Amino acid sequence: MALLQPARRLLSAAAQRHLCLAPVAARASSWWSHVEMGPPDPILGVTEAFKRDTNAKKMNLGVGAYRDDNGKPFVLNSVRKAEAQIAAKKMDKEYLPIAGLAEFNKASAELALGDTNEVIKSGRYVTVQTISGTGSLRVGASFLQRFFKYSRDVYLPKPSWGNHTPIFRDAGMQLQAYRYYDPKTCGFDFAGALDDISKIPEQSVILFHACAHNPTGVDPRPEQWKELAAVVKKRNLFAFFDMAYQGFASGDINRDSWAVRHFIEQGINVVLSQSYAKNMGLYGERVGAFSVICKDVDEAKRVESQLKILIRPMYSNPPIKGARIASTILTSPDLRKEWLEEVKGMADRIIDMRNQLVANLKKEGSSHNWQHITDQIGMFCYTGLKPEQVEQLTKEFSIYMTKDGRISVAGVTSGNVGYLAHAIHQVSK
Ligand SMILES: Cc1ncc(COP(=O)(O)O)c(C=O)c1O
Repeated sequence: MALLQPARRLLSAAAQRHLCLAPVAARASSWWSHVEMGPPDPILGVTEAFKRDTNAKKMNLGVGAYRDDNGKPFVLNSVRKAEAQIAAKKMDKEYLPIAGLAEFNKASAELALGDTNEVIKSGRYVTVQTISGTGSLRVGASFLQRFFKYSRDVYLPKPSWGNHTPIFRDAGMQLQAYRYYDPKTCGFDFAGALDDISKIPEQSVILFHACAHNPTGVDPRPEQWKELAAVVKKRNLFAFFDMAYQGFASGDINRDSWAVRHFIEQGINVVLSQSYAKNMGLYGERVGAFSVICKDVDEAKRVESQLKILIRPMYSNPPIKGARIASTILTSPDLRKEWLEEVKGMADRIIDMRNQLVANLKKEGSSHNWQHITDQIGMFCYTGLKPEQVEQLTKEFSIYMTKDGRISVAGVTSGNVGYLAHAIHQVSK
């Protein structure tokens, strides 16, 4: 109190009166009165509108989660069995280490790169368990912000998953873009992508979707990936792979990670985000991994130490349950076999729905070329429908999707594909 006296004496009588009133004024308003209402999440907004709709035929094609052929959320048998095995072991629930479950990290790197990969054998990599794919991207983005000393710029495909921009921006990186999707063909703008990438300043970061590009469903073919890798190498760009759908695109985990493995074979030391949300259906368990491929083991150790320093104040250590499920599946031969069949089953059902949608559009008499629906891959399909057509589908047919005309094919079933084709034909003829 004595220390405050001299300062008070310096204040005018008016300022002293204000000082006395200040706490009252603060109480009358609020700490947060300046906080403006933010816009709702575009995808969750679609779900909210869907929930309010009373039409029995309504379809929600906005949400990116797999549904079985009855339109119901799907828990894999391999997951149920792994959960039962874990429960029977009555394990403790102590904290995991900062980097997560070691067996899970090893199995994740092997799944992505293949067990016989030179990187795995030499150990010149580090993998940390993360809070699903989003957490992995965020850890990766923060690592770049702290240690990538060459550039702040991250080049995203145009368009990219809506969360990429805020993830990298919030981590302090700057977003740039390269051409990717060609609305004229509803396919990959290979020439545009090559042209843009070849002009990206050297030593910038470029992000690729390893497979099943979200939101377009458009992936480069292997020979196109080869050329992309060559440009990346020539321009000395830093490649960040986001692999949220391994196995989910083609049904084959090796085929879906071909691009990542090819880049590494070409001597490009990438970073990689993995998610088990889709391919194991572990959405809410939040299981993912972040890997950095390094020059040698020593570099990997140093990078690991810094990843831990980064993670510790973010969330201390990752959750245990999902990682136990995933590592049980990946490391027990029977469960792994069953899981691989189930992943293929999910991918095949989606491919089948794409075929059925096109067949039904033809049956409806549509004269448009819908081949892109079957050329595209993974959970999402960029239909090419215009915002007004999307609005009409919602208003007249209770079919919900994002305004960009993206549909989640996982939400289509043999029971509703005919209705969807009919509605699309009605708004596009
Ligand atoms: C391209 C892409 N990356 C990452 C993710 C991460 O998802 P999650 O955090 O649920 O693993 C998703 C999910 O939709 C995605 O589509």
